[in-house]
Amino acid sequence: MNNKPDMDDTGKTPIRVELADEAATAALAAKVSARAQRGDVFALSGPLGSGKTVFARAFINARTRTPEEVPSPTFTLVQGYEFPNAEGAIPVYHFDLFRIENADETAELGMDDAFAEGISLIEWPDRLGARLPEDRLEVFLDQGPSPDSRLASLAGHGSWKARLETLGPEVTGDD
Ligand SMILES: Nc1ncnc2c1ncn2[C@@H]1O[C@H](COP(=O)(O)OP(=O)(O)OP(=O)(O)O)[C@@H](O)[C@H]1O
Ligand SMILES: [Mg+2]
Repeated sequence: MNNKPDMDDTGKTPIRVELADEAATAALAAKVSARAQRGDVFALSGPLGSGKTVFARAFINARTRTPEEVPSPTFTLVQGYEFPNAEGAIPVYHFDLFRIENADETAELGMDDAFAEGISLIEWPDRLGARLPEDRLEVFLDQGPSPDSRLASLAGHGSWKARLETLGPEVTGDD
């Protein structure tokens, strides 16, 4: 999962977006966040410092009631937030599994409940192995040609195959 996806399982090339600076990464994250629903899983991959936490921070702050600090969950492994909605709130879970060595270590994190009831953002999702839900949007971030630029690749699995067809033009500016 930390390898750039060359093709999603529909056989299509993933959507690629050039992000000129941190604000562009935040803008992409806000567009993805706007479409997030209860039960969604976002797998955030890419090397150290590629912008996974920057993406998660902007994704979360796009929809929380008040601005949130969104610290990196490097040591806590998970941080929780809420998106207000008509029914009350959708829980949002920001996981960082970098320090996990074995997928069994995630048993106490309540990830299955998070996947079912909330919106989950997962840094280092490869640590989950087969526990990573099939239905997910993969967001891969990589260094771009200049120090502050990044290249994002989005690949949809499960329900996200179809949902990426509508999100894609919006994030690449082709709509
Ligand atoms: N276009 C950009 N998008 C995102 N971050 C950027 C960009 N340009 C520069 N940066 C900087 O790169 C760093 C990204 O750090 P961040 O903590 O988000 O990385 P990460 O992928 O979460 O790393 P880790 O694997 O250690 O958790 C920040 O210092 C941010 O300011
Ligand atoms: Mg991080």
